Amino acid sequence: MHFFPESLERYVEEHTTTESELLRQLNRETQARIYMPQMLSGHLQGQLLRMISLLVRPKNILEIGTFTGYSAICMSEGLQEDGILYTIDINEELKEMAERYFEQAGIRDKIDYRIGNATDIIPELNVSFDLVFIDADKINYTKYYELVFDRVNSGGVILADNVLWSGKIIEPVRDDETNALMAFNDRVQQDHRVDNVLITQRDGLMMIRKK
Ligand SMILES: C[S@@+](CC[C@H](N)C(=O)[O-])C[C@H]1O[C@@H](n2cnc3c(N)ncnc32)[C@H](O)[C@@H]1O
Repeated sequence: MHFFPESLERYVEEHTTTESELLRQLNRETQARIYMPQMLSGHLQGQLLRMISLLVRPKNILEIGTFTGYSAICMSEGLQEDGILYTIDINEELKEMAERYFEQAGIRDKIDYRIGNATDIIPELNVSFDLVFIDADKINYTKYYELVFDRVNSGGVILADNVLWSGKIIEPVRDDETNALMAFNDRVQQDHRVDNVLITQRDGLMMIRKK
């Protein structure tokens, strides 16, 4: 989804911390080998996630939707010394690739990578989080929000990707995923326990801070 002219997007990327060679390689391999490679965060969003993580300095991060590991590697850079990034994906076929890149990034011991349905796995995680990235099936966004909320520390940040859904959230004809994302955005907007800003980055990134 390009809300910006591509030439302007290029300029923005050229004035953003350069993508590491490893992330570039991971991006290239994902584009070449993996179904729906556009799901990968990419340079700009990756650096935004990394920047937020560097500012938050989380002890524990939860990511829902690992895919090939791009966003996990970006966010891991802000972890405290003894911090752990928990990341969940339902697709076992991505395991070899994600683990290979975690290894190459030198963060294998900082990653708790679980394969399975996030709605089953989240309740099993007995930790609190300073940073959460919701980036899996759109239908369950509100469920994920409710499941993690009590486990997010005060001052902690929840991010949710794709909340503009290519602009479909303001179109008259809607599908289930669009309805789910609209319900999520409304839930957050009406939640007095948080401050939130919907950032017009790529496909829309909802940034939520728990009071
Ligand atoms: C948009 S991709 C994640 C992209 C990744 N965060 C990145 O930026 O590179 C969404 C991922 O969510 C996973 N997923 C979908 N439904 C899920 C579920 N119920 N539980 C866990 N993972 C799920 C998919 O397998 C897919 O890999």
